[in-house]
Amino acid sequence: MKSTIQDKAKLVNSVFSKVYNKYDLMNDVMSLGIHRVWKKKFIDWMNPSHGSSLIDVASGTGDIAKLFSLRHTNFSKVTCVEPNENMFRIGRKNLVNFKNIKWIKSTAEILPVEDNMFDFYSISYGIRNVSDINKTLKEAYRVLKPGGRFMCLEFSKIDNELINFLYKNYSKAIPALGKYIVGSSQPYEYLINSIDAFYNQEQLLKLIVKNGFTNVKYRNLSNGISAIHSGWKI
Ligand SMILES: C[S@@+](CC[C@H](N)C(=O)[O-])C[C@H]1O[C@@H](n2cnc3c(N)ncnc32)[C@H](O)[C@@H]1O
Repeated sequence: MKSTIQDKAKLVNSVFSKVYNKYDLMNDVMSLGIHRVWKKKFIDWMNPSHGSSLIDVASGTGDIAKLFSLRHTNFSKVTCVEPNENMFRIGRKNLVNFKNIKWIKSTAEILPVEDNMFDFYSISYGIRNVSDINKTLKEAYRVLKPGGRFMCLEFSKIDNELINFLYKNYSKAIPALGKYIVGSSQPYEYLINSIDAFYNQEQLLKLIVKNGFTNVKYRNLSNGISAIHSGWKI
């Protein structure tokens, strides 16, 4: 079990060490820019009030931290958590002008922050990559204030047969696209396989409930290509 967890962490780290340079470009190309719409919908549903605090885990290049900060022009406090050295460097550089944002190099499974600290916890396209999802959810619960909100954006399962057929066929072309743009197909084979292997909407909802959250709900985006899950620490 321990070695499986370490193997996944190593694999995921090597994936992001290969793609970091072209991460944003590949996201735009692969999703035809739609990931930006999904991330905006994520912040819209979160609807943070002025001055609220966020811990954004698996921050990558910082899209969620940026959108959150722009909601109330920098008045909110944001902590970004990212374990990969290269993604961390690019994320911090991208958001250097946001003085409300600080960066911590760490994994989602062990957050080096105190209990009951944040109004919001976000994890966008990160939960599929963690090595221990239960530990991650327990940490999310621990660091949120009572009344705080957990939100997760992730690829999910498509609820329409035709769209599923088209999407599955399109997915087959993604590793070749990765080879052309990034110079390696392997990270994108990992991407497709990890999406396939990940929980569906209801399974993820149950895991979030099992780890302490209440009033857990989800919303599908583009027929479930992605989904947003939301839960509360009461
Ligand atoms: C697909 S990117 C998502 C980045 C960003 N949140 C976004 O929505 O564009 C996934 C990120 O999760 C990070 N990651 C991988 N394993 C992690 C872990 N165990 N804990 C926290 N982050 C992790 C990766 O280094 C990578 O930057």
